[in-house]
Amino acid sequence: MQVCYTINELLSAVDKFKQEGKTIGLLPTMGALHQGHLSLARRAKEENDVLICSVFVNPIQFNNKEDLEKYPRDLESDIRMLEEIGCDVVFAPSAEEVYAEKPTIAYDFGALEQVLEGPCRPGHFNGVATIVHRLFNWSKADRAYFGEKDYQQIAIVKDLVRQYSIPIRIVECPVYRDEDGLATSSRNKRLSEQARKIAPKIHEILAKSKKMSTTLSCSQIKSFVESEFNMRKEFKLEYFEIVDAVTLQPIKQTSVKGAVGCVAVWLDGVRLIDIQKY
Ligand code: PAF
Repeated sequence: MQVCYTINELLSAVDKFKQEGKTIGLLPTMGALHQGHLSLARRAKEENDVLICSVFVNPIQFNNKEDLEKYPRDLESDIRMLEEIGCDVVFAPSAEEVYAEKPTIAYDFGALEQVLEGPCRPGHFNGVATIVHRLFNWSKADRAYFGEKDYQQIAIVKDLVRQYSIPIRIVECPVYRDEDGLATSSRNKRLSEQARKIAPKIHEILAKSKKMSTTLSCSQIKSFVESEFNMRKEFKLEYFEIVDAVTLQPIKQTSVKGAVGCVAVWLDGVRLIDIQKY
């Protein structure tokens, strides 16, 4: 496995793969890898000749300085894990390397970015689109892999690909959960032992709402989920919204069939997100 720290190193590796006629799978990450990342990496490795995994904590997608500073980082362990699963290239550049060329594009994702995470994290999706666009160009990947926990991110990335005619397939992968149901996330590492025990409640509440969705209306489900979080003092609910699976616009009709419930909730000073498909 090759570890590239510069764009030129990555470009040379990619050129070689392309000359050999190999297909490339890209897994963009911010590191602090967990089993969820590794399941995506394994799938990408299976479906492509080579796997490139980027490990880069992208400063311009954080609208909160403290969140950026506290974001877990462990490149050595990331490299070890990726080597074990047969990754071909790890791209681990510095921010100076990535942004030597200053970002110039102001992306516009219209209504897609005006809901859910958008209003809570101003500038976040512009930052995500900037890095993802660059990674797509540098890696010349055939397929890129994203987890559905970040449901809105996938919609934004698909729109990026459409708007800029980028020749890449976006592969959406189901949420990977720990045995107790908690969606895997690098942020889980920041939870205290006590909070980690409570965290599976997030999925539990959402799963319960799915069971109720055959008999309850959309607004009843919303009220149920909101009250479940609000009655537990450990949680601070930022939003729970039931949205159309494609447009991400809040569902107004009574039936939630085919919709997605998206939640952002604070626990122990850590912001966690999760989804429930109905
Ligand atoms: O989902 C993430 O980890 C990040 O948003 C991504 C896609 C790697 C871009 O920095």
